[in-house]
Amino acid sequence: MLRYLTAGESHGKAIIAILEGLPAGIKVDASKINQELKRRQSGFGRGKRMAIEKDTAVILSGLKRQVTLGSPITLLIGNKDFSIEKLPKVLYPRPGHADLAGLLKYGLTDAREVLERASARSTAATVATGALCKILLQQFNIRIASRVLAIGGEDTGAGMMEKIKEAMINKDTVGGVFEITACGVPVGLGSYVQPDRRLDGRIAGEIISIPGIKGFEIGLGFGYVENFGSQVHDAIYFSKSKGYFRQTNNAGGIEGGISNGEDIIVRACMKPISTLMSPLDSVNITNKKSAKAAVERSDICVVEAAGVVAEAALAFVLADAFLEKFGSDSLKDIKLSYQNYLKRIK
Ligand SMILES: Cc1cc2nc3c(=O)[nH]c(=O)nc-3n(C[C@H](O)[C@H](O)[C@H](O)COP(=O)(O)O)c2cc1C
Repeated sequence: MLRYLTAGESHGKAIIAILEGLPAGIKVDASKINQELKRRQSGFGRGKRMAIEKDTAVILSGLKRQVTLGSPITLLIGNKDFSIEKLPKVLYPRPGHADLAGLLKYGLTDAREVLERASARSTAATVATGALCKILLQQFNIRIASRVLAIGGEDTGAGMMEKIKEAMINKDTVGGVFEITACGVPVGLGSYVQPDRRLDGRIAGEIISIPGIKGFEIGLGFGYVENFGSQVHDAIYFSKSKGYFRQTNNAGGIEGGISNGEDIIVRACMKPISTLMSPLDSVNITNKKSAKAAVERSDICVVEAAGVVAEAALAFVLADAFLEKFGSDSLKDIKLSYQNYLKRIK
């Protein structure tokens, strides 16, 4: 139902996203997109670029008088640091980045030509399109939020800050775990009938595709294996006022690839940033001699920002699955279809 493409290099003129499939009739408050972009740039441990760039999205198509037309929406986020032509070559690929694999794959001779697109700058476009998806979902009282659970193994606020400071002092980087929750999701999004229609698989695919994300779990996730089945499955109850309900949500809101009406809860982990100010060993790609990896201006910890990107990824999947279930052309039609469905399952 929904699809999006992004384009743009990290130090090119701009980052662009085209989102196709958003229904007609949604009022879009552009400041909501910019608020999300600001959240992506926040968090303790960010690099100097965040001080230069204050992202704002310009909407180039798909809206008239701030209301969606059903046609593709084009978003443009300008790069204040537009310097791609002047930047020096990167000849020492950074371990943990796309540099070396990208050079070999595309037959390039300068890792800058890889990292300009491989860099997570493109996640600004993900967040901007996710903000539009959130605006759609909010029409149906579906809300998405994220929180950081741990940084470098520390799970208290003070402990997390200390870890980031330690990484800063040691010219190192640090990763962590975050959680994303979607509330108000109706039962019935996604399906068990084919693997590519499973909601869990679709969410996992989008979130694991965020640069730097290396682990993913839904509900109890890896915690399932420490318990017996009788201790972890969410028993089913019924009352006249609530209908079917559960007292636990270890499934994280998805059973059999379908949303079950409980909150959708997923967690993911972000590896430590791979650009190190005290670099690891690498090789000079021109003469193949040992050298230290390239040093680029970089973040130290982006777990909080990665959570914001993952919110956008989850919003995209839920909006797509929602439109698949309730129609996709006009907001009015979708609202009617949704009301009918809620009546039927009551
Ligand atoms: C919001 C965000 C910001 C990031 N900032 C940086 C950065 O400043 N420096 C860096 O080396 N990696 C950064 N990363 C991670 C890299 O983009 C990522 O590790 C790299 O593209 C290789 O992909 P992979 O880790 O998925 O294999 C960032 C990731 C996200 C989600």
